[in-house]
Amino acid sequence: MKVLVTGGTGYIGSHTTVELLANGHEVIIVDNLDNSSKIVLDRIEKITGKRPDFIEGDVLDTDFIVRVLKDNRVDAVIHFAALKAVGESVADPLRYYQTNVGGTVSVCKAMLATGVNKIIFSSSATVYGDQPIPYTESTPREPQNPYGRTKFVSELVLADVAAANPDFCAVALRYFNPVGAHPSGEIGEDPNGIPNNLMPYISQVAAGQREKLSVYGNDYPTKDGTAIRDYIHVADLAEGHLAALQKIYDPGFHTFNLGAGHGESVLEVIVAFEQATGQTIPYQFADRRAGDLAEYYADAALAESQLGWRVKRTITDASADAWHWQSGNPNGYKNVV
Ligand code: NAD
Ligand code: UD1
Repeated sequence: MKVLVTGGTGYIGSHTTVELLANGHEVIIVDNLDNSSKIVLDRIEKITGKRPDFIEGDVLDTDFIVRVLKDNRVDAVIHFAALKAVGESVADPLRYYQTNVGGTVSVCKAMLATGVNKIIFSSSATVYGDQPIPYTESTPREPQNPYGRTKFVSELVLADVAAANPDFCAVALRYFNPVGAHPSGEIGEDPNGIPNNLMPYISQVAAGQREKLSVYGNDYPTKDGTAIRDYIHVADLAEGHLAALQKIYDPGFHTFNLGAGHGESVLEVIVAFEQATGQTIPYQFADRRAGDLAEYYADAALAESQLGWRVKRTITDASADAWHWQSGNPNGYKNVV
């Protein structure tokens, strides 16, 4: 297939592009480079021996997306392009609604205008909010912050477009906590400034770029008092997109959880990282982080039964790969010439 990958130079988009190219698909990336670098294209070529087409541009520009779809005879769209920082979404919700919901509307309009009717959308486990675990696809959606609500509303948009257009196939993949990097160490997560997320922070502590990790809360009602999440290796996540690409011959709107189906506590992640890398991670306990939940993980049975997909890699694999990336690229893609 010929696939338009929006946000394809970003963290998950770049790993998925590698997987698509390795499986014989053709890829056209559209990205405005708001949170990524063109160096990613060199790295993808180094890994796969193929260079994806790249067009710099904004998904909010519907006429531009129409031209890209028409000129390239695209079969399907994987729509990653979005903003993803929860705290920033609280401070500037309109920017988040505009880019994330407006971006989804714009991409759908361009698809309808050109007769492209297959889309895979990056959603998030954050759409569920504070609900009984494990989350299944029918767990009620009550997102707790503007970022989560933009994902929830985008899903509604896709469901309504699919209902109004009988040939339209939309798959929303609800990612749990993506971690790790490509095993080559060529591509990985490249956060700006102080990382918000656990694995990049641990990696930077291991690299000596940060003094110690603050473990947010050790008084949760969990086995060791620290919060539990369902960490999924980004290479498993990439494979989930390939599996979903097969599914999108069924018209309608479909959702799948992409997670491991079990969780690890913050302390377990630290131990796994230390064992995988031989590095020591100094840490201290700190107050709970506002908005954090004690524990959640996926019921991933639907993806297994309908897509034939399940995770293959462990948190230890993800730690080793994150460290390979971090130690080889201490500044991410920045300062690379
Ligand atoms: P990322 O920031 O690395 O990638 C997003 C890419 O989209 C970036 O390259 C950015 O430059 C691009 N982009 C942003 N706005 C754009 C616009 N208006 N037009 C064109 N390009 C634009 O993020 P990621 O971690 O790879 O996330 C990819 C998708 O997965 C996002 O939709 C995100 O919300 C979703 N998601 C991410 C996580 C996670 O933990 N990383 C979890 C759940 C869902
Ligand atoms: C966050 C986002 C979520 C997003 C997910 C992607 C919030 C509220 N949620 O989830 O929308 O989909 O990232 O991966 O921001 N932790 C520490 N110390 C740190 C960093 C994190 O102890 O320095 C803990 C957190 O309290 C949490 C766990 O590690 O318990 C995982 O944190 P993080 O990687 O930020 O992911 P989430 O909070 O689950």
